[in-house]
Amino acid sequence: MQAYGRAFARIYNLMWTRFANQVAPFIFDFYASTSVGKSNKSLLDLCCGTGQLAVHFLEKGFRVTGLDLSEHMLSIAKENALPYLVAGQAKFIQDDASHFALDERFGLVVSTFDALNHLENEQALQACFRCAHAVCDGYFIFDLNTRRGLRHWNNVEINDRSEDALIINHGFYDGVSNKAWTRITGFIREPNGLYERFDETVFNTAYEMENVRDMLIEVGWKDVQFARIQELGVSLSAPEQEERVWFAAKA
Ligand SMILES: C[S@@+](CC[C@H](N)C(=O)[O-])C[C@H]1O[C@@H](n2cnc3c(N)ncnc32)[C@H](O)[C@@H]1O
Repeated sequence: MQAYGRAFARIYNLMWTRFANQVAPFIFDFYASTSVGKSNKSLLDLCCGTGQLAVHFLEKGFRVTGLDLSEHMLSIAKENALPYLVAGQAKFIQDDASHFALDERFGLVVSTFDALNHLENEQALQACFRCAHAVCDGYFIFDLNTRRGLRHWNNVEINDRSEDALIINHGFYDGVSNKAWTRITGFIREPNGLYERFDETVFNTAYEMENVRDMLIEVGWKDVQFARIQELGVSLSAPEQEERVWFAAKA
């Protein structure tokens, strides 16, 4: 389990929100083109992080529930979605994506930015698929890093482009084992001008894309497709050749 810590959550909100902002319109357009998407405007965002994707759908009139393990990510998500929270259109809950049950049902369930690579192993991933299926009346869309994509983790990167933060990323992946690791350390500027040190170690579990499809089908998902984000409706035939694969499945 990997719930992001306090300072890292602030770094995330400062530096890593572009992904969710970029993919949200593609997911919205795909879902809006489906028959359930024309009438059901409800979204469950699993591993919602700091809530950027949630806000995109809230702005489009969706009722949104964001679920994440990290109280610190959720606290920032609540700030980012404050007007919608106050209006009762948004809800954020702290829970484990591989072990949750909700009374509500949703037209769309999503999980973005390789959040499901954060789960411990295939058992946890399939448990997540089962929980998601139990609350979904429409589509489940998520992305995973492939082994090919995780090979890029094997390096050191320094990001000193912002005055507000210094980030050092030490990644390790041997290309064959089931876990890729990255240690992210650095400093983030506090409102008082002082810098706080952060240190977060994150792993991604590497899965076989065909196994993931089989696990989805086993728990009841239908029409499972591998895709690219720009063309969620178009099936890819060689998913392991991609660095990141998007899955679209029907309840
Ligand atoms: C890479 S971030 C993605 C955040 C967001 N989906 C986005 O696109 O920006 C991964 C998120 O997964 C959360 N997370 C990790 N393991 C989790 C689990 N087992 N259940 C729920 N959330 C989890 C972390 O706290 C973090 O917010």
